[in-house]
Amino acid sequence: MGRCCKCNGKLLCMCLLPCMMTGHLLIYVMVTIFVTISYAPPKITLHYVAPGISANSSALASHPLGPFWNLRLEDSALWNQLQHVWDRQHNPLLRGNATGVKPRATVLSEIEDECLSDCRSHKCSVPRADLNSLSEKMRAFIRSMHCREYPLLINQPGICRKTNSSFGLGSPMLIMAVKSQVGNFENRQAIRETWGRSGRVKMDSNKRGGQVRTVFLLGRQDSSTGPHPNLTNLLDLENQKYGDILQWDFRDTFFNLTLKDSLFWHWLQRHCPTATFVFKGDDDVFVRTGALLDYLHQKWEEHDRWRAYTNDSNLDLFVGDVIYNAMPNREPSTKYYIPERFYKGGYPPYAGGGGVVYSRSLAMRLKEVSERVRLFPIDDVYLGMCLYRLGLTPGHHPGFLTFDLPESDRGNPCAYRSVLLVHRRSPKEMLTLWNQLQNLPGQC
Ligand SMILES: *[C@@H]1O[C@H](CO)[C@@H](O)[C@H](O)[C@H]1NC(C)=O
Ligand SMILES: *[C@@H]1O[C@H](CO)[C@@H](O)[C@H](O)[C@H]1NC(C)=O
Ligand SMILES: *[C@@H]1O[C@H](CO)[C@@H](O)[C@H](O)[C@H]1NC(C)=O
Ligand SMILES: *[C@@H]1O[C@H](CO)[C@@H](O)[C@H](O)[C@H]1NC(C)=O
Ligand SMILES: *[C@@H]1O[C@H](CO)[C@@H](O)[C@H](O)[C@H]1NC(C)=O
Ligand SMILES: *[C@@H]1O[C@H](CO)[C@@H](O)[C@H](O)[C@H]1NC(C)=O
Repeated sequence: MGRCCKCNGKLLCMCLLPCMMTGHLLIYVMVTIFVTISYAPPKITLHYVAPGISANSSALASHPLGPFWNLRLEDSALWNQLQHVWDRQHNPLLRGNATGVKPRATVLSEIEDECLSDCRSHKCSVPRADLNSLSEKMRAFIRSMHCREYPLLINQPGICRKTNSSFGLGSPMLIMAVKSQVGNFENRQAIRETWGRSGRVKMDSNKRGGQVRTVFLLGRQDSSTGPHPNLTNLLDLENQKYGDILQWDFRDTFFNLTLKDSLFWHWLQRHCPTATFVFKGDDDVFVRTGALLDYLHQKWEEHDRWRAYTNDSNLDLFVGDVIYNAMPNREPSTKYYIPERFYKGGYPPYAGGGGVVYSRSLAMRLKEVSERVRLFPIDDVYLGMCLYRLGLTPGHHPGFLTFDLPESDRGNPCAYRSVLLVHRRSPKEMLTLWNQLQNLPGQC
């Protein structure tokens, strides 16, 4: 530089020197800023655990992958706030270690502390005054949304046993979990006689068939809407005869349907770990079980071929009628109404109405991740949230018809050729349709 100045004279020297000094100053400022940012003292006192240290959680995406529930907290929707507390607790970077003190990330956890007070007797009260303006239904949900364990009143511990000769030997390829209510005897009977028959079911193309087990998921009759006939003895008789009822001790209301998914996953892990696939649906849908088994058989073979190349034995299958970019329903008079004070943001992609099918291994991952996702009053959306959290999206299958066939096609059996599930059918319609579809291949 000095030589440069000597050679080219004073003018160049006087011109270059300030430029270089400014340059150095700039670099200094940038380095300082960078260092300040990197070494800013952590605001939360936690034990930092690097991602991947806890090997058994590596299959989970431990932080939100996108912004759908990750809104600014001053927006103060209750679900988002509560979820935020869990997101922080389960964040791999901020996670405290299990032997140390459990992190209490923010003041928001106070809401939770008060809520956690009394799960068993359901006496938890959310004190914030602004919740008083919510509907009774919504408040009932909020009061019990931290409670996830309810005792089984009726169980079927032996239904999936390989040696259970009631339905033919072999472990089930498909377990059908049908959400029903105590009073829906007729729906259950129609399902048993048609698409939900337990035992070996013929596939449409593959004569070998697959083992199917059907269970019905029930809560306790909801007495909050007034007195109702006591059906306990009838249900007991039904269960003695068919042995396919699972009943838990919680109020069977629309907003409690999510509990059926979560409790069923626990039951599945414990009592039916050999099933390969799960169908979960309502008791007012019609399923072409043979065609569904065909589809699943094909998926399983594809998976088998894939498995020859990788050692991944988990099949992540989840299909249904997928709804994208849905927003919460803000119309207070509807069944699906979710007030803004409870949840803000859009819904993740989810499979709507009637029924979905997924693999057992995915069910186990859903069970695990659901422990990090706050219960949501709409069951389909909750499943979408759990999938989202696993970094998965539900697969769309055009055979799942949430909104039925066009009116003119409903009576035509040939129109059902490519249908796997159709919503909604009464018990009588199920029987009629079932009989019509038995002779389908010749006709169409
Ligand atoms: C994770 O692993 C630890 C020990 O390796 C075990 O105690 C813990 O229960 C596991 N957690 C889960 C969710 O499997
Ligand atoms: C967790 O914290 C305890 C003490 O608080 C420490 O002894 C232990 O090594 C920590 N474990 C990990 C995995 O950081
Ligand atoms: C077979 O399943 C039925 C229906 O759940 C049950 O009643 C029966 O006890 C089971 N049998 C065995 C041997 O587990
Ligand atoms: C219904 O009947 C059963 C059996 O008779 C009885 O144990 C139960 O307490 C009754 N439930 C109600 C709400 O009365
Ligand atoms: C769900 O069931 C629990 C237990 O019976 C009950 O306390 C709660 O109020 C129910 N929630 C709704 C929204 O009905
Ligand atoms: C698959 O697993 C087997 C046994 O666990 C191992 O010998 C083999 O190398 C693995 N293959 C791949 C591609 O990881």
